[in-house]
Amino acid sequence: MTDPLVGRHVTLGVTGSIACYKAVDLASKLVQAGAMVDVIMTDGAQEFLWPITFSSITHRPVVTNLFDPQSELSMDHVALAKRSDVVLVAPATADAIAKAAWGMAGDALSATLLATEAPVIFAPAMDANMYDNPATQENVSKLRSRGAVIAGPAEGRLASGLVGRGRMLEPSALVDHVRIVLGRDGDLSGKKIVVSAGGTQEPIDPVRMITNRSSGKMGFAIAEAARDRGANAVIVSAPTALPDPTGITVVHVETALEMRDAVTAQCEDADALIMAAAVADWRSAEVASQKLKKGSAETMTIEMVKNPDIVAGIGGGRMVKVGFAAESEDVVENAQSKLLSKGLDIIAANDITSADSGFATDTNRVVLLDRDGGVTELGLLSKYEVGHRILDKVVQML
Ligand code: CTP
Repeated sequence: MTDPLVGRHVTLGVTGSIACYKAVDLASKLVQAGAMVDVIMTDGAQEFLWPITFSSITHRPVVTNLFDPQSELSMDHVALAKRSDVVLVAPATADAIAKAAWGMAGDALSATLLATEAPVIFAPAMDANMYDNPATQENVSKLRSRGAVIAGPAEGRLASGLVGRGRMLEPSALVDHVRIVLGRDGDLSGKKIVVSAGGTQEPIDPVRMITNRSSGKMGFAIAEAARDRGANAVIVSAPTALPDPTGITVVHVETALEMRDAVTAQCEDADALIMAAAVADWRSAEVASQKLKKGSAETMTIEMVKNPDIVAGIGGGRMVKVGFAAESEDVVENAQSKLLSKGLDIIAANDITSADSGFATDTNRVVLLDRDGGVTELGLLSKYEVGHRILDKVVQML
């Protein structure tokens, strides 16, 4: 199991909003993720962009007219409706939404929406007053009640000059919405997967803290992989520079103690816990309430006390426990002993000294050890792919 977009047919309906310039990036991201993308442009969209803008990205014909004799739809007007694994309308204007809600079929996109049995996602983009108008709201509710996903719109500055609800979601978020829809019946459907991420921050005084080099990328990537296989994915995250991913609940914490409490609460009904966070082993014995002054002393000592081991102290029962071992020497041996001492089902041993794995990179090179003695050496993979390989093992154990 991997990215649910690979080899899937996505029909991208582009309608006449200025946000359609973002649909070009969206088409590109879908293609890069491995999807086959058929674009339908409405007449309105063609006032903003040319078909060649899309065909040069998708390498497939672009449908512009239901009655064009050159078009596949002139021979089989529901060809795209049948072929699609998902239909995404982005941007979706008020007009396109109204036509779909009322079951119109006078243009290629409307006809495809009416005929398809595939899931449909609308990404509204319009002036805030148009979106808030009861007519549009009624149409949106109607589509939602029939099973369509309404992705967005976001709040922000709009082309009309208004600030309000009406901005199309960013392309990367829309790609994630497509993944969620395609993966919702995956092998983790109905399962709750809790992932910890990032490096905890242990305060010394109001200004200073002790932390580590963890970027949070590995944990976020695992949670995204779980989401894309249908899981209810939750991240308990120490501070990172990463935005909250689409479709994942993120619980933000700072210290190891806060992380322990949040992980414990989330694990009450979890099927698996994956501890990718770099938890500080120590915290300052006392946190000064005022900024510590350097004074005239030449040295200073901070007394530290041990933090609880979160993963060792949790669970049992049917929950699958996965840990990481960040090691700079004797990687597999050290990981093996952590697997046993922390009562884990799986441990991902991570050599943090190599440049293409470990902290802050987008790739990782890990060895998976499991409680039954299995050893799987994964080569250099993206962190998202590493996430999938870990989840393959979790699925077996569930
Ligand atoms: N871990 C944890 N709570 C801690 C420390 C670590 O839950 N207080 C988890 C990590 O999230 C990881 C695993 O334990 O999944 C191993 O973490 P690592 O930092 O490699 O090992 P430590 O137990 O901290 O041992 P050492 O620092 O001595 O290598």
